Amino acid sequence: MLASIKQYIDELNPENGKVCDLFCGSGVVSEYLLQQYDVLAVDIQNYSKVYCEARLTGGIKDIDLHGIESTIKSSLVRKINLNDYKPVLDYEEECKKALEQGNLEPMYEIIEKGSLYAYLENLEYADSALSAELAKVFSGVQKNIADRNNSIDSVFVRYYGGLYFTYKQAIDIDAIASYAFEQKEPLKSKMLAALMGAVTDVVNTVGKQFAQPLKVKNKDGSLKRNLAHKIKTDRGMDIFEYFNTWLSYYVERPQTTHDFKVVCDDYTTALRNLKPGDVKVVYADPPYTRYHYSRYYHILETLCLHDAPQISTTFPNGKGGLSRAIYRNDRHQSPFCIKSKAPKAFDDMFRYVYDAQASLILSYSPFDANSGATPRLLSIDEIVDLAKKYYQHVEVVSPGQFMHSRFNRLDNNYEINYEAERLIICRK
Ligand SMILES: C[S@@+](CC[C@H](N)C(=O)[O-])C[C@H]1O[C@@H](n2cnc3c(N)ncnc32)[C@H](O)[C@@H]1O
Repeated sequence: MLASIKQYIDELNPENGKVCDLFCGSGVVSEYLLQQYDVLAVDIQNYSKVYCEARLTGGIKDIDLHGIESTIKSSLVRKINLNDYKPVLDYEEECKKALEQGNLEPMYEIIEKGSLYAYLENLEYADSALSAELAKVFSGVQKNIADRNNSIDSVFVRYYGGLYFTYKQAIDIDAIASYAFEQKEPLKSKMLAALMGAVTDVVNTVGKQFAQPLKVKNKDGSLKRNLAHKIKTDRGMDIFEYFNTWLSYYVERPQTTHDFKVVCDDYTTALRNLKPGDVKVVYADPPYTRYHYSRYYHILETLCLHDAPQISTTFPNGKGGLSRAIYRNDRHQSPFCIKSKAPKAFDDMFRYVYDAQASLILSYSPFDANSGATPRLLSIDEIVDLAKKYYQHVEVVSPGQFMHSRFNRLDNNYEINYEAERLIICRK
């Protein structure tokens, strides 16, 4: 869609004024626009800010990728973790061997109940008790980490190890993150973005998302044998290999002559901070289904915040035990994903962009009831009515034919809909 989006921006912006990418996510739109315009990129998620900084900042010369890898591999953080978590690392190797020999049970248990965080915090988590073997190795780790049981340098192995990654992969992720946080910008953001790329490549889930670990059991309690191949493949992947590939990519971004600023904040705050005329065009791509983005990216958010978050419970009142996916309890709930709040969220957006005297191009995905797609929060007509409260000239165009990534279905990761996107153009 990039060329289409830019074509409409060009029309509204003949003097090449600054453009705001309001819900910038991965930063690919900002990166494309930066070739011609100064850009203000805004998103509420921290991982988005890191992605944008990594993409929009030009390349870094003379980076010794091999040197970085060997420094991280021999770092104190990694050495301590490899030692502290040795009981689970050894046990994991045994589980891998058992899996090779057709015994799924031990590895599948790790995927289902392997969060050390739950064990160490003594929180209600899985629906049945741990096996004696797993309980024993967890207790061994607990003794080893007595005075390091809340360390930021072991968050991945403690929270997500076993569930989403092997414990070994998670220790490598922790080591790279710790090293990245010691670096200055722009290397720090580029390393974190590269690590997010690697983490996304290796994660052992359906569709490589972070919304939930694999469900290893059928409804009748039997183990899903057909997952064994995927488990072996994903859990055999080397974090450093993927990290290095992504780091080469981010350190080679082109230099730009245009200015950019990345803001991690709510869209209303960012828009209210604009003085009239600061930006000429706002491109807005808000969420369009009830599925919160934060649900799919909570692990990337933890990686970029570099904190040890509290984990949410299944129900808001603390009932139902820990969320199976180990969600952070402060994950953002966007008003665009909540039926009762979405109309006001759009209204606020139109009003604040109008007050900033900018034109607006809104991307939204219409709902096709026949396609089996996830329902949208508002129809295109409802959104156009809201836009017309402020803008006199509102037009709906189709930027072409697209497929949307579909996180919530196991069998098919893409929502095939050849009219999957609309641009609502609000001319100042
Ligand atoms: C459809 S995605 C945008 C994708 C983006 N155009 C890209 O190319 O990657 C929607 C984005 O809106 C962000 N978001 C949701 N609610 C927000 C809010 N209240 N303020 C700012 N950003 C928000 C989400 O974090 C998500 O990145």
